[in-house]
Amino acid sequence: MTTTAITNIASLVTNDPSLCADSPLGPIQDAAVVIEGDRVVWTGESSKAPATDNAVDAGGRAMIPGFVDSHSHLVFAGDRTEEFNARMSGRAYSAGGIRTTVAATRAATDEELAANVARYLAEALRQGTTTFETKSGYGLTVEDEARALRIAARHTEEVTYLGAHIVSPDYADDPAGYVDLVTGAMLDACAPYARWIDVFCEKGAFDGDQARAILTAGIAKGLHPRVHANQLGHGPGVQLAVELDAASADHCTHLTDADVDALAQGSTVATLLPGAEFSTRATWPDARRILDAGVTVALSTDCNPGSSFTSSMPFCIALAVRDMGMTPDEALWSATAGGAAALRRTDIGRIAPGARADLVLLDAPSHVHLAYRPGVPLVHAVWQRGERVV
Ligand code: NIG
Ligand code: FE
Repeated sequence: MTTTAITNIASLVTNDPSLCADSPLGPIQDAAVVIEGDRVVWTGESSKAPATDNAVDAGGRAMIPGFVDSHSHLVFAGDRTEEFNARMSGRAYSAGGIRTTVAATRAATDEELAANVARYLAEALRQGTTTFETKSGYGLTVEDEARALRIAARHTEEVTYLGAHIVSPDYADDPAGYVDLVTGAMLDACAPYARWIDVFCEKGAFDGDQARAILTAGIAKGLHPRVHANQLGHGPGVQLAVELDAASADHCTHLTDADVDALAQGSTVATLLPGAEFSTRATWPDARRILDAGVTVALSTDCNPGSSFTSSMPFCIALAVRDMGMTPDEALWSATAGGAAALRRTDIGRIAPGARADLVLLDAPSHVHLAYRPGVPLVHAVWQRGERVV
């Protein structure tokens, strides 16, 4: 297999904590990375790089691991421009807007849905995202949920069954009947395409008992849990996630001290989604408080047409640094290694021998520019599985 050295990297973020006692980013200055096939095989100082078949001059730019966007909702049709416009003119966000997207998604053809997923993925890749998770949740019938997951599974192995996004409008008078469907025929149809099961545990969606029933049914089918928890208010979501050893509790905007303690004691990652607070003008999650308690934090986009219509991990990093109390180093770690932890993956989110060669070269001398230069397209080149794709 051919080997390629990328040399003359001004600063390399490896996320290998063994390289540096002071920083989990494991930074190397004046660095080189050698890739072979889809893997990284060597990292170190440029002057010590081994001989390779090919060489690429990074031109003194910074290199970081590809972003791991561990929370998105990309299988949908239509958009909600009017809802956003109304919200920015003073109306509050509620989970009810999801119904608008459900109607548009049900009406769309498979081809339209697939084209949408491909479009947002291409958009994310140009901004440095090399791994993403995505969910169903805008179909809410057996057939529509299963087709959403079938389409998602063509693009990623990180597919999440979210039949429990809201109670389907078809079951408005029978929420218990909808939970039976989500844990029965719908689960049977969806499980073959999914790795994860998720539930929106929130007032207006599913309460703690319903969420527990849904997640345990999924676990019994071999799916692994993750939870939309404590986004709009306090509730049982975070503690349920920890109790069931969910890989991630997502949103974590409204946390009690007991919620923070539970996260600190368990192995559930807290995934923060600042695009949602930005786009709904909501209170920011207090990342500082969670980090100081020793909780592992991931940052993701939550890309969806309602509450967070951004595919940009750099944008989320900038918000997390400016408004959520994260340092630029913490935000970058959370958007790469943190996302990998939220997906219980060790092969991504880092640049080290054996890891997947998912690399992003920035038009900047340091990753700090991601927050320092918000809104500026800083991604110069992207390698995904060792192949240069941007
Ligand atoms: O993560 N919280 C639930 N689901 C999405 C919102 C979906 C929508 O508004 O369409 C979220 O923010
Ligand atoms: Fe979400």
